[in-house]
Amino acid sequence: MSKFLIEGGQRLKGKVDISGFKNAAVAIIPAAILAGDRCIIENLPNIEDVQALGKILSELGAKVELDSENQKMDIDTKGITDCYADYEIAKQLRASYYLLGASLGRFKRAKVAYPGGCNIGTRPIDQHIKGFEALGAKVELEHGIINVQADELVGAEIFLDVVSVGATINIMMAACRAKGTTVIENAAKEPHIVDVANFLNSMGADIRGAGTDLIKINGVDEMKGCTYSVIPDQIEAGTFMIMAAATGGDVLIDNVIPKHLESITAKLKEMGVQIEEYGESLRVLSTDKLKKIHLKTLVYPGFPTDLQQPMTSLLTQAQGTSIITETIYEGRFKHVDELKRMGANIKVEGRVAVVEGIEKLSGASVSSTDLRAGAALIVAGLMADGNTEIDNIHYIDRGYDRIEQKLLSLGAKIKRI
Ligand code: EPZ
Repeated sequence: MSKFLIEGGQRLKGKVDISGFKNAAVAIIPAAILAGDRCIIENLPNIEDVQALGKILSELGAKVELDSENQKMDIDTKGITDCYADYEIAKQLRASYYLLGASLGRFKRAKVAYPGGCNIGTRPIDQHIKGFEALGAKVELEHGIINVQADELVGAEIFLDVVSVGATINIMMAACRAKGTTVIENAAKEPHIVDVANFLNSMGADIRGAGTDLIKINGVDEMKGCTYSVIPDQIEAGTFMIMAAATGGDVLIDNVIPKHLESITAKLKEMGVQIEEYGESLRVLSTDKLKKIHLKTLVYPGFPTDLQQPMTSLLTQAQGTSIITETIYEGRFKHVDELKRMGANIKVEGRVAVVEGIEKLSGASVSSTDLRAGAALIVAGLMADGNTEIDNIHYIDRGYDRIEQKLLSLGAKIKRI
């Protein structure tokens, strides 16, 4: 079991390159099933979730070559004839649920065990199921396996009861091969919805409106292979912005789409951090005098829940009392107990955390409970006095591409032990 050892107090300085977007990549790889052909996916982050999906597709019969060095995966899904992903497969990552939409589209059936993923609260998939059923599929849950099948898929109007990234993508994938037109209303608008739609369109799908709350999908008879490059990771970029702010740093965050980062930029500016915007990069310049803020997580273009945890760490050192409201996942405050070990003064009441700024966190042994909680503890370790030891870092490896190398190049003192 590896751990990270961080010696706090180093000011981050330099340039960091942001990798491809995890949450887009983990949908695009299973979406390649729809092509039944060869797809080359570029700008993939070198993370465990991508490796796991590559293995899953090859176990299902695809030919997969992952070139991690060049962030590229060559996938030929011709050899997949059916999709059965048992618990051992599905528990590896949440995104295994995308096997359902992609396989339902291509084979009109799929069996996938209820998905795993980070433990951040109840994570139902009723909206995915509602969408599949609206398209004409029968969905049954038997012994933990979701069994989806249809004689044919027919386009439908689907109004999502909650704005869900996963349901929007899953329904979009299945609807690509339905007869006629599907309309998803109250669709999620996150950048990766647009990226996945662009990938599907590159494979021959006909999707319009991705990035708005109304997406129209005209079903097509055939899809084909393509070469596609994943967009930069909005959440990795935001994490490095927060790390730069936390250390009074001066960091150029390169290979980003600044528009995707507006909610984070706005909040950091409100705290007194200086941010300069260039075409594909942002320079984050900070001092150690940060102001308190009030923060509420929301669906895009609001402040992303995935950055709430790293932001909590940053707010422990802002002057005054900050209030954080988590509206997406009720269980996403598990990092708070760990931050308290480091001296943070935070009270959690339901979905609200009240953070009283203190002078300095002090290094301690802590444990990451999920991916972004791990990122939050790295932020805390970078700011703290003395040494911080973080265990359970396999969570961090699931979603951050070579995080310690990137931090080392910015002058952090971090070691994997
Ligand atoms: C995606 O999860 C991301 N995961 C999450 O990233 C991210 O936190 C989340 O979107 C929100 O942005 C991937 O892309 C693999 P949702 P997803 O469906 O699709 C409720 C990270 O750290 N809901 O948008 O599973 C749900 O409970 C992570 O990278 C239903 O009620 O999230 C939640 O409250 C973890 N019924 C809200 O909607 C459903 O059928 C949003 O969930 C589906 C969701």
